[in-house]
Amino acid sequence: MAVCGQSLQAGCISPVSIKPFGTTAEGIKVDLYTLTNHHGVRVSLMNYGASVVDLFTPDRDGNLADIALGFSSFELYPTKSPYFGAIAGRYANRIAGGKFNLEGMIYRLAKNNPPNHLHGGILGFDKLIWNAEVPDSKKPSVRFTLRSPDGQEGYPGTLDVDVTYTLTDRNELCIDYKATTDKTTIINLTNHTYFNLAGAGNGLVLDHRLKLNAASYTPVNKALIPTGEIKTVIGTPLDFRKSTPIGLRIKEVGGEPVGYDHNFVLGQSFVKRSRIAAEVYEPTSGRRMKVYTDQPGIQFYSGNFLDGTLTGKGGKVYKQYAGFCLETQHFPDSPNQPKFPSTELKPGQTYRTTTIYQFSAQ
Ligand code: GLA
Repeated sequence: MAVCGQSLQAGCISPVSIKPFGTTAEGIKVDLYTLTNHHGVRVSLMNYGASVVDLFTPDRDGNLADIALGFSSFELYPTKSPYFGAIAGRYANRIAGGKFNLEGMIYRLAKNNPPNHLHGGILGFDKLIWNAEVPDSKKPSVRFTLRSPDGQEGYPGTLDVDVTYTLTDRNELCIDYKATTDKTTIINLTNHTYFNLAGAGNGLVLDHRLKLNAASYTPVNKALIPTGEIKTVIGTPLDFRKSTPIGLRIKEVGGEPVGYDHNFVLGQSFVKRSRIAAEVYEPTSGRRMKVYTDQPGIQFYSGNFLDGTLTGKGGKVYKQYAGFCLETQHFPDSPNQPKFPSTELKPGQTYRTTTIYQFSAQ
């Protein structure tokens, strides 16, 4: 499977290549950073939203396919993308009523998912241009940084954010997040890649088998806002403690639109250390993906809002359930939920978290 014998440095494939991808309406250049490891696994990221644009991994016969949903040209991202591959922030997922109380002050955020706030607002981190740098040209890694000014989208504090993607020779895509603030604020960052392990646009993900290291979840109301409870998954269609096809019980989940869009409480949620959170297996290609994180929760979203109106890479139409997301995170609406782990970040503290997506095939 090696593309270039043992050493990328020796020659034929460069671990990082950069090429233009497009231009924003404001005339800012968007580049594509392609990282390639010794096994030929590769991922392309753009400085718009610090987003994953494509991700090629081998099936059981060594054939590479792009397993990340997205568009073939940049121009569609700003207006059409449902957070394809992007970093969601400052606060991933929903904040009820678009407001929260912090140190006695009420902060009001954009209600971009009326009546609630979603994924950082109208100009969330998914829609910003990040600075990009390649820390070491011999290593498949790219570092995106951003300064979010005090008051941006209603959030307090100047936030300096750092998201580094690295591809290892163990076929892991590591995402290291870091942030600091000059005023107490809230933070919850995640990556919103939609995966289809049979290849993006190649059917639905309903036959993918999912295993989650979660015995409980945070129930939500109709508007997908947590009720504040933490409930057992036992006896519900949310029990993925054993590997189960995503589609097997999806109709029983309900919701509008029907499907999974839930935050699962990861085993030993209140212990901040890296552990396996999820494992997905796609039987026809043999591709397997494992997700490791130190975060307390993971949003399993089965692409319910995809409705066949988006045409992705290669002219493929994305129907409902064409991709799934596993968004490692703090629980949605934590700033309004005293029983959930805190998402506060104070001056002098450093927010630091790592998520690893590991790819293999059997
Ligand atoms: C998250 C949310 C979903 C939806 C998608 C984006 O996964 O939980 O409800 O907003 O992002 O479409």
